[in-house]
Amino acid sequence: MCGIMGYAGNQSALPILLSGLQRLEYRGYDSAGVVLQTADGLACIKESGALGELRKLLDGHAPEGRCGLGHTRWATHGIPSRENAHPHLSCHGEVAVIHNGVIENYDSLKRELLGKGHRFVSQTDSEVLAHLLEDAYAGDPVAAVRAVLSRIKGYFAFGILFQAQPDTLIGVRFNNPLVVGLGEGANYLASDIPAILPYTRRVLFLEEREIVVVRPESVVVTDFAGAPRTRAPYQVTWDLAEASKEGFPHFMLKEIMEQPRAVRATFSGHVSPEGHNLSFADLALSAERLAGFTRVLLLACGTSWHAALTAKYGLEELAGLPTDVQIASEFRYGDTPVGASTLAIAISQSGETSDTLAALRMARERGGTVLAVTNIVGSSLAREADAVLYTRAGLEVGVAATKTYTTQLALLTLFALHLGRVRGTLPEDRLVQLLDQVRGVPDRMEQVLSQTAAAVGECAERYRTGYNFMFIGRRYNYPNAFEGALKLKEISYIHAEGYCAGEMKHGPLALVNNVPTVAIAVQGRTYDKMRSNIEVIHARGGVLILLVTEGDTSLDAFGRFVIPLPAVDEILSPLLTILPLQLLAYQVAVRNGKNVDQPRNLAKSVTVE
Ligand code: AGP
Repeated sequence: MCGIMGYAGNQSALPILLSGLQRLEYRGYDSAGVVLQTADGLACIKESGALGELRKLLDGHAPEGRCGLGHTRWATHGIPSRENAHPHLSCHGEVAVIHNGVIENYDSLKRELLGKGHRFVSQTDSEVLAHLLEDAYAGDPVAAVRAVLSRIKGYFAFGILFQAQPDTLIGVRFNNPLVVGLGEGANYLASDIPAILPYTRRVLFLEEREIVVVRPESVVVTDFAGAPRTRAPYQVTWDLAEASKEGFPHFMLKEIMEQPRAVRATFSGHVSPEGHNLSFADLALSAERLAGFTRVLLLACGTSWHAALTAKYGLEELAGLPTDVQIASEFRYGDTPVGASTLAIAISQSGETSDTLAALRMARERGGTVLAVTNIVGSSLAREADAVLYTRAGLEVGVAATKTYTTQLALLTLFALHLGRVRGTLPEDRLVQLLDQVRGVPDRMEQVLSQTAAAVGECAERYRTGYNFMFIGRRYNYPNAFEGALKLKEISYIHAEGYCAGEMKHGPLALVNNVPTVAIAVQGRTYDKMRSNIEVIHARGGVLILLVTEGDTSLDAFGRFVIPLPAVDEILSPLLTILPLQLLAYQVAVRNGKNVDQPRNLAKSVTVE
């Protein structure tokens, strides 16, 4: 996933482009570049490495212009290097392109262009766009863009500058996000809202298969066939403060600590502050429609898939609905029947994950009704689904998902309660009991974050030089074993494996002598089974780090570290048990000097396959 930023206005473009790219660095940061329309033609400067490297290159050599494009890259084709950084120029430097996505047929196009005498300087797929546009341009920039769109396959968002078209940016959207910021005497183009928020709160979301021409005083949107497209601007309500660290050393720690607030905000959309009213009034699926489904299909990737695995338990226990969970990148190439009685729920915090989007489309093609669960208003997932439920985590900048995960858990739990109620499978007293606990969960989360930090820090210091970890759990908490392992892997680069505790005896038990095992052993239906797993590991000399329910001291003898958590219903326990695991991953990574917010090889939203 890359970051796109564009400006056309009455001020110097470069500072605005760099400021926008800074706020998009979480999308990709292995190289960066800018291109400006100047009196002497297109001036293109780019550099490998983080944005700071580009700033150094520009220091003292800043081109002056009032219209330009900027790009931060997450490499898909071609190693991170200055040559492969965007923007890419045509042979004579009269067309510049920046791209987010993949041109799937670039190889054949490149061969054709080389045969025509075009000269390439990069190994990227994106560069073909600059040469195709150079060939297609005959004075009308949109006609050239449309001609090129008829030749390429893949998914993309791109920004284009023609030297011959002063003060004019062109944006194209096909399966990758692009927003237009509407300013005074200036307009903006960006992959995501934070890049333009310091300048305007009025945005237009480009829809699929749209082209936009951005000039200082006008914004014109058409579809790929040339038909005009209009829509009212969206007024952004959240502020940039959410996108700043506010005194925390890292975005990830800020976002871990924000979770009680984020979960409270997510609950508040559906649960009244007092009483036992649970509302999904804004959901575009009526109670009658919901009551008609006989099966749920959950589709997601990464951490969102872990939220789906957890949600399965609540949907089956509270709503009595058979629930199938599939990794989106597997579902889209499989043959799972869907049908009209299936409610397919696509879960994606960014709402832009390519595999999840494709799975949503496939579930609908196979007859399902699709509900999106996402954190981003106006995201592709939100716009393509039949209905959408929003988590209210606010902007999450750290690549490792934290508050977006717990708000997914929170929202999916409430939705399971709602389904149970409309289907008549949830007794009223059970609903009341759980809603009483739901309201207390954010405070319990605050308690866990403050009370476990010291023990987690000690544990991290003790084991941070380890080369492997095992995480185990059962039922509602086995997905958190997977999530705790993923957090550690993705930010500390230490291998870790999450496992269903009952599966240990089928092989992984052989490992426990060499690696610490984190066991989630809070009270629940399978607590006794979890206890015996712990005893077996201990008897074989395994080192254990235990998460237990406070007051339960019966496991103390087995744990090198024992971390007590407040008692809550098992259904809600994942909202608490994940917190020490997030902090453990964070502490290990920071103590090992890793880049917590921008871990290597990763991006915040994977908009490529
Ligand atoms: C989790 O920490 C990672 N950032 C990654 O697994 C992420 O959850 C996955 O890419 C799915 O992203 P989405 O929720 O935006 O679809």
